[in-house]
Amino acid sequence: MTGINDGWRNAGHSQGSRSPERERRDPLASDVAEAPAKSPYDRIGGKEMLRRITDRFYDLMESDPAYKALRAMHAPDLAPMRESLAGFLAGWCGGPRDWFEANPGKCMMSMHKPFPITRKTAGQWADCMTRAIADVAPPDSEIAEAMADVLSRMAKGMARD
Ligand code: HEM
Repeated sequence: MTGINDGWRNAGHSQGSRSPERERRDPLASDVAEAPAKSPYDRIGGKEMLRRITDRFYDLMESDPAYKALRAMHAPDLAPMRESLAGFLAGWCGGPRDWFEANPGKCMMSMHKPFPITRKTAGQWADCMTRAIADVAPPDSEIAEAMADVLSRMAKGMARD
């Protein structure tokens, strides 16, 4: 999990990167490089954008038969999940950590242990999330694609078959 999250953190490289070549060409580059790098949370568009992504994710899960098996694993009422996943993603992206404070010690892998996650359903999760992010289309497409990629790899890593 740490390795994957390092990759996610590195996705912010374009904001803070400072190559000697760039500094030679751009006299303002050193000022720019000294500005604190924005967190993935800020780059993706904060809580509002994460809420839109989460809502789109569960709307797709509820409406597209391609995700039938994944939907069947979830409780009939997805409203609590819409809150919970948006809150988790906020803290995970470097934003407000309310979800982590409310769920001390909760880890993604142990939390999902009760569910019989297979490659098929993990693939559905990854596909559904990738589509949700693409549909909401956060303006910073680089961080959006990095987020879809890391979440997909995390989801696929949860398969136990
Ligand atoms: C990066 C991948 C994933 C993230 C970030 C994620 C996140 C979450 C979160 C935050 C919760 C709510 C926990 C709570 O409020 O107590 C949850 C629950 C759940 N997740 Fe995931 N999840 C991921 C992957 C998966 C996958 C691959 C599956 C199944 C194939 C899955 C199935 C479920 C189910 C069935 C629940 C319980 C839902 C319910 O109570 O209705 N998750 N997940």
